[in-house]
Amino acid sequence: MALVEISNLTRVFDVSKPWLNRVLERLPKSLLTAVSDVSLQIEDRSIYALVGESGSGKSTIGKIVVGLTAPSSGSVTIGGVDLARESDRGAVEQTRSDIQMIFQDPYASLNPRWRVRDIIVEPVAAKGGKTDGLAERLLEQVGLVARDAGKFPHEFSGGQRQRICVARALASEPRLIVCDEPTSALDVSVQAQVLNLMSDLKDTFGLTYLFISHDLTVVQHMADRIGVLYLGRLVEEAAPAELFADPKHPYTQMLLAAAPKMDGFGREVDPPKGEIPDPINPPSGCAFHPRCPLATDVCKSERPAMLDLREARVACHHAM
Ligand SMILES: Nc1ncnc2c1ncn2[C@@H]1O[C@H](COP(=O)(O)OP(=O)(O)OP(=O)(O)O)[C@@H](O)[C@H]1O
Ligand code: SF4
Ligand SMILES: [Mg+2]
Repeated sequence: MALVEISNLTRVFDVSKPWLNRVLERLPKSLLTAVSDVSLQIEDRSIYALVGESGSGKSTIGKIVVGLTAPSSGSVTIGGVDLARESDRGAVEQTRSDIQMIFQDPYASLNPRWRVRDIIVEPVAAKGGKTDGLAERLLEQVGLVARDAGKFPHEFSGGQRQRICVARALASEPRLIVCDEPTSALDVSVQAQVLNLMSDLKDTFGLTYLFISHDLTVVQHMADRIGVLYLGRLVEEAAPAELFADPKHPYTQMLLAAAPKMDGFGREVDPPKGEIPDPINPPSGCAFHPRCPLATDVCKSERPAMLDLREARVACHHAM
């Protein structure tokens, strides 16, 4: 059963200059399509990873799912409730409390003047819930110790702080956690520990994750399903084994070819070729056509639909 259902989701931002400048300089309005007609489902108690280069619309989708940003068109439902349209306030409140978000920067997202205990129980206390011993229990669940509850955020390392963020997210007993690059700021070894922790908690607490990352290799081992975004469009979706063994979209193939190839100095070689186009004036037809080695005339004129192909879903005129 799907917990999250995203249907034809589109989000357009008005990035025009101020009105007076536009009039004086005779500029048209400029609109940026950050998310374009994205449809996907996240199964209950699964991990869905959304990957893509910078600016591909990952965070915008995450923010719409948690209700921080409204869609321009299309919809997101969580357990059948559409936060942007539901009129029953009880249903909206319940659904909101079912969702938590964890951000990239564990430094910025913890109040430096609060003790860890107060940070963790705050979402529960705000609703008048019972908080006795809650912070201590959750700290142990995330691999810290009960007495850490009395400390301040600056007394912890980056990885430990991200564990505190996880504990705080768990406090309100969510069903869905949206993680936006939760480990990108951490060292590789610490990253793996936090990812393992999140996977374990999924089983313990029956959680569902929308996990956002720019790095395919980070999500390879934890995700049940991976969606690849390009310029706000979902181009391919598959289980990790399928995606890595048999990538069907030329963009996914390019990402995988470029992925973790390091030279002798640990530097990345072979980055994806070509520039990401301007999202204000995206290429016609398939947005990937200027960079695609397989592009033909139809690619320039018609946007490819997302179709089932073996165990995957792919949006490409020539995928085989
Ligand atoms: N509030 C906003 N106003 C205008 N443009 C925005 C806004 N938020 C996002 N954008 C634009 O929408 C596009 C997608 O942004 P988004 O933050 O979703 O990308 P991302 O995939 O999360 O990138 P990154 O990996 O850099 O975090 C970008 O071109 C961005 O500049
Ligand atoms: S539709 Fe055409 S341009 Fe787009 S990825 Fe497929 S082959 Fe390449
Ligand atoms: Mg982002």
